[in-house]
Amino acid sequence: MSSDTLDRGLVLDAVRVTEAAAIASWALVGRGDEMAADQAAVDAMRNALNDLQIEGVIVIGEGERDEAPMLYIGETVGKGGPRVDIALDPLEGTSLTAKAQANALAVMAWAPAGTLLNAPDTYMDKIACGPGYPAGILDLDRSPADNVLALAAAKGTTADQITVCVLDRPRHAEIIASLRSVGARVSLIPDGDVAGVINTADPETGIDLYIGAGGAPEGVLACAALKCVGGQFQGRLLFRNADERARAARLGITDLDRKYDLDEIVRADAIFVATGVTKGALLDGVTYRNGFVHTHSLVMNSHSHTVREVRMKRAL
Ligand code: FBP
Repeated sequence: MSSDTLDRGLVLDAVRVTEAAAIASWALVGRGDEMAADQAAVDAMRNALNDLQIEGVIVIGEGERDEAPMLYIGETVGKGGPRVDIALDPLEGTSLTAKAQANALAVMAWAPAGTLLNAPDTYMDKIACGPGYPAGILDLDRSPADNVLALAAAKGTTADQITVCVLDRPRHAEIIASLRSVGARVSLIPDGDVAGVINTADPETGIDLYIGAGGAPEGVLACAALKCVGGQFQGRLLFRNADERARAARLGITDLDRKYDLDEIVRADAIFVATGVTKGALLDGVTYRNGFVHTHSLVMNSHSHTVREVRMKRAL
């Protein structure tokens, strides 16, 4: 393995990890217990990771060591082997899972050691679009309306033909008003901005742009996916209090206002894997039929620019 490329043999190992997490949390779909669903996914993902021939360091995980007993930032996993940075969210959409709503995923990204942004567990302002646009088309320092106008012009269309995905939160009222002021369509999602960002790269979803504040860890995961399928992303960490600024300092982040582009968040080739928990635009959910459990996963490798859809079927 070269220093900036992951062994392609790791690709199918990685998908076993998100499959295990998705199957475990599926048992909790619709049961109204977010914590139990998340815990089931965490346990399964950690067991699966510890079964692999890697030396993995969690850089995006369940939190800092004193608040997360498993998959905490800095925990090492695996039986030994290539050194990889791991970003993971065993259950992206805990609330979606608890309420049996669409688009819950188990997600993970791997990159060579030292190449993923060690983002603190804070919010991040994010803006993203799919591939095919001139570099630098998006800028968090421009208004949402101006970003829509720039994207529309580059696409050779008008702003009213642009659809923007936004997390449905009161904090996004101004963003939504700005988008609507130029006639853009706004697609509001209840949760799950990893999928929201990835959907900008798939013309079938009809989503052109993603804008809004969501989890910084989810921003890193989404960047790993865009690195594989193409697209642009800009993120800026948001700090609500001194504790969050201290978290950033512990991770070596000194410029708190910095805007990060995709290649500064994922600095080498990456592998991204996701398995659907509940059915969504990106993936089908876990199902049980005739004594078999079925899963649907995406496996992407930025080095080879491959995107595989993996359907797994296993007897119970
Ligand atoms: P969880 O699965 O960890 O609950 O995250 C779901 C999510 O919607 C993310 O996709 C998003 O980045 C974040 O929560 C937004 O945070 P908040 O719910 O606080 O607005």
